[in-house]
Amino acid sequence: MAKNDRVHFGSKLGVILASAGSAVGLGNIWRFPYETGNHGGAAFILIYLVCVLILGIPIMISEFLIGRRSRANTAGAYQKLAPGTHWRWVGRMGVLVGFLILGYYSVVAGWTLEFIGESATNSFAGKSAADFIASFNGFVGHPWRPVAWLIVFLMATHFIIVKGVEKGIEKSAKIMMPLLFILLIILAVCSISLPGANAGIEFLLKPDFSKVDGNVFLGAMGQAFFSLSLGMGCLCTYASYFRSDTNLPRTAFNVATIDTLVAILAGFIIFPAAFAVGIQPDAGPSLLFITLPNVFQQAFGNLPWLAVVLSLMFYLLLAVAALTSTISLHEVVTAYLHEEFKLSRSKAATLVTAGCIFLGTLCSLSLGIGKECTIFGMTLFDLFDFITAKLMMPIGGFFIAIFTGWYLDKKIVWEEISNNGTLKVSVYRLLIFILRYIAPIGIALIFINELGFLK
Ligand code: TRP
Repeated sequence: MAKNDRVHFGSKLGVILASAGSAVGLGNIWRFPYETGNHGGAAFILIYLVCVLILGIPIMISEFLIGRRSRANTAGAYQKLAPGTHWRWVGRMGVLVGFLILGYYSVVAGWTLEFIGESATNSFAGKSAADFIASFNGFVGHPWRPVAWLIVFLMATHFIIVKGVEKGIEKSAKIMMPLLFILLIILAVCSISLPGANAGIEFLLKPDFSKVDGNVFLGAMGQAFFSLSLGMGCLCTYASYFRSDTNLPRTAFNVATIDTLVAILAGFIIFPAAFAVGIQPDAGPSLLFITLPNVFQQAFGNLPWLAVVLSLMFYLLLAVAALTSTISLHEVVTAYLHEEFKLSRSKAATLVTAGCIFLGTLCSLSLGIGKECTIFGMTLFDLFDFITAKLMMPIGGFFIAIFTGWYLDKKIVWEEISNNGTLKVSVYRLLIFILRYIAPIGIALIFINELGFLK
């Protein structure tokens, strides 16, 4: 496609909100709290912050510059910038990873809709801890309910994608992101003001390094990649719609800051409330769907209308955050099919939606009637999470760092980062150093350690 006919985001705010919309999602509000809970709280958060700073932001800048320079979908981008080389496999792998993530991500996204319904009808009222476990397991194992919600969620994503980049992605982000911030702040204030919330705040702020092992590093790195939407060309695809005057380093910094703030605010919603009612926050993936409804019930049970309003707000927040992210994952695959196979945008989108419904259904059923069939001891759902977040995204990030740090002509890198010399970028050298050495070596070390060679 020629440079000029390609669609663009309309405004600077649109660029930031759409990219932040991709980054802020279930990763921040669902995955971050349970990983933090499992890995000992503040110590995990500190390691996570280091990962965001030295791996996340540099790799995000790389993805931005690859996307904007090539003005193509992520597979096409490598073909343009490195024609005839094997680099195109990095792009193609990204498209595949995007498809896999969307498959299991929309399962959890669908759950949020069920929980919006349950909150609205006040069906948490009067339940005991055991009831919450039983009703969640009953729902997840139900043969069609979670699948139906997953389809509804993917159809909503589809609807926005076919409206296009400016009228669909950008406009929806401009509505949903402010809503998300408002909900977050209200909920965090309520949670912190509960009597006994201090223990939760302490858990978030006081590091306990005795729980730190190799696993924690891999967990923090995987979480950073997942939460910032990195390592598979998602932000690369969005950047192909950036305008030529978008400041790439600043945008990356802003997006990473927003994403991290949202994750920490989500922690300030969940942990103070959980500790206030004496519930341990280490439940893993079911934290938000078993522990939290119970927390709402116990904390506000004597004010039933408040319990309804707050839990409704919370699951709405989750659904909105998830939607802006599924849109970005969908766009990666849709743009690829649209541009590489010359399908119309709506045909491409339909194929992606249909494929994801199929994959999502398999993942969803793997938690219910298919619970017995495991691969490497994991259900299909857990396997997808492991393969994407803990393996393929860091591997993708490794190659993206090598591509920009070593392969790509430094003139191109400089032109993109400084907008052809019009911006003063004081961190340019540091950035190249990180991309050449720190990021690849850091990722490799975390992997090797995880595989047990350093023990
Ligand atoms: N970052 C999103 C979240 O935190 C999920 C997501 C969207 C994502 N696009 C991605 C994860 C690309 C990995 C890669 O929920």
